[in-house]
Amino acid sequence: MSGPLLELEQVNTYYGESHALHDVALSVGEGEVVAVLGRNGAGKSTTLKTIMGVLPPRSGTIRYAGATIAQPTPEALAQRGIQLVPEDRRIFASLTVEENLTIARLSCARPLPVADIYRIFPRLEERRRSLGRFLSGGEQQMLSIARAVIRAPRLLMLDEPFEGLAPIIVQHLMNVVADLAKRGQTIVIVEQDVEACLALADRAYVLSNGQVVHEGRAAALRDDRETQRRYLSV
Ligand SMILES: Nc1ncnc2c1ncn2[C@@H]1O[C@H](COP(=O)(O)OP(=O)(O)O)[C@@H](O)[C@H]1O
Ligand SMILES: [Mg+2]
Repeated sequence: MSGPLLELEQVNTYYGESHALHDVALSVGEGEVVAVLGRNGAGKSTTLKTIMGVLPPRSGTIRYAGATIAQPTPEALAQRGIQLVPEDRRIFASLTVEENLTIARLSCARPLPVADIYRIFPRLEERRRSLGRFLSGGEQQMLSIARAVIRAPRLLMLDEPFEGLAPIIVQHLMNVVADLAKRGQTIVIVEQDVEACLALADRAYVLSNGQVVHEGRAAALRDDRETQRRYLSV
């Protein structure tokens, strides 16, 4: 395949009559970690929902693995290797950690063995017989990410994975994401934690009012105080 793994061109997305994304263009190369940043309400989750087919764009194109995604549905995209870890951690509260992982392996052509997940998240192995509802916030987030990773996605998208977690848990999850990246995992990460996100990403896009207002190397944005002040600081 030549060209990026994922490419959005002139994408416009609406909630009813409310115009949420304006001509959004972005691309993600195979093996890249791409950050999508922006203040609350900037359009980050809407961008991910648009890619996932939860909220199909009214105009524009989305290309994945060299082909246009015409009628995207979350199921079809999952089959093609796209996994989204949404903002609200979707785990089964009344199932154990191990049952949650086992279910995530179903309907997946080549899932990872559960043992691989326990190597990445030793804490989940310690907690494997605990019900989802008894996990801490950090453990729930680990399980939520693990349920996506076990399906060996070609593209992993994380919506605010560090939100509401203690700094030590954020550090742990950052190490996990960095480790996945080192092994070649393609990742789109949406975050309000700009510093954490830029430390992980190769490239970054900044959204404001549903528009891309900045794109470039993550390292350059780290030093670009002016752009950070205008579009990112709270
Ligand atoms: N379900 C919805 N219905 C209507 N408007 C929505 C809905 N979800 C989000 N929006 C609006 O779309 C814009 C972008 O929201 P969102 O993508 O959730 O922002 P972010 O994830 O960057 O915080 C905001 O103005 C928000 O109020
Ligand atoms: Mg959001």
